[in-house]
Amino acid sequence: MGVEIKVNELTKSFGKQLIWGDVTLTIPAGEICVMLGPSGTGKSVFLKTLIGLLKPDRGSIIIEGTDIASCSERELYEIRKLFGVLFQDGAMFGSMNLYDNIAFPLREHTKKSESEIRAIVMEKMDLVGLIGTEDKLPGEISGGMRKRAGIARGLVLDPEIVLFDEPDSGLDPVRTAFLNQLIVDLNAQIDATFLIVTHDINTARTVPDNIGLLYHKHLAMFGPREMLLSSDEPVVRQFLNAQRVGPIGMSEEKDADELAAEADQELPPIPPIPMQLEPSNGIARRSQREPGAWCRENGITPPPGSFEDNMSMVTGV
Ligand SMILES: Nc1ncnc2c1ncn2[C@@H]1O[C@H](COP(=O)(O)OP(=O)(O)OP(=O)(O)O)[C@@H](O)[C@H]1O
Ligand SMILES: [Mg+2]
Repeated sequence: MGVEIKVNELTKSFGKQLIWGDVTLTIPAGEICVMLGPSGTGKSVFLKTLIGLLKPDRGSIIIEGTDIASCSERELYEIRKLFGVLFQDGAMFGSMNLYDNIAFPLREHTKKSESEIRAIVMEKMDLVGLIGTEDKLPGEISGGMRKRAGIARGLVLDPEIVLFDEPDSGLDPVRTAFLNQLIVDLNAQIDATFLIVTHDINTARTVPDNIGLLYHKHLAMFGPREMLLSSDEPVVRQFLNAQRVGPIGMSEEKDADELAAEADQELPPIPPIPMQLEPSNGIARRSQREPGAWCRENGITPPPGSFEDNMSMVTGV
């Protein structure tokens, strides 16, 4: 079914360094969310805080009635069973073959027999298209296969929430396209709540139901995909359309001189909103909405050319 994650006024710093403050958002059950933000804005820290690996300074994270930010270690241990996580660095054991890597959480956290484990591992390897590679070591396969192995391992405990930290980093565009399709298909199939951190704008534009943007130590915006893709808000517009003109500079924020210099520059138009990627496995996604539904309901005219078929890539991005 997937479960909801309700984050309220969450603040995190390391020593005197504030990472982000007052982050409030609700990640709806079963939906796909993407979290964006310039490098170093604390996206990975956000994911680690959600699973209780890092403690926030204040605020709450409510999952199934438990506050991750203040619960006991024991409650945290139970809640963590709801999560499947694909860490940014893949975190595969280099000396273990793929089968053993994927079986690891089952051997570690359950009392299942080896034959039960085998059935689950093979099912998940099948799901991510890795049948036949059981005996390979992580170093012997491509980056894309390692990512898929990481996803399979994140799924073995049948998570209700799956966190992906840059699943597409280091992948070529074709592998990224396959991975995105896999993520959408998995969401349809296992119906869990997905949160994906990515730098890939095409992924952000086509995969999720909702998008969030962390910028300058706060959550600049969070909401339905169509809301952000039609937004005039300068930071959102610049980031989601990968443009140079806007408040974000090379080292996070532009200074007053830089901003003044581009004050009379015309902004490029907001590109059309692409269709959302649909499952290819014939299973409908519960949270998939009709193209343009959010814009219609909110009286927003989408940019010209939006929601046209076969528009897999947006020009100008
Ligand atoms: N355990 C830690 N102790 C102290 N500082 C940390 C710790 N983990 C992260 N940070 C700091 O928090 C900030 C945010 O780091 P984080 O890894 O979350 O960024 P990010 O948005 O994921 O970046 P990227 O897009 O490059 O992955 C950085 O300045 C980092 O140095
Ligand atoms: Mg990161």
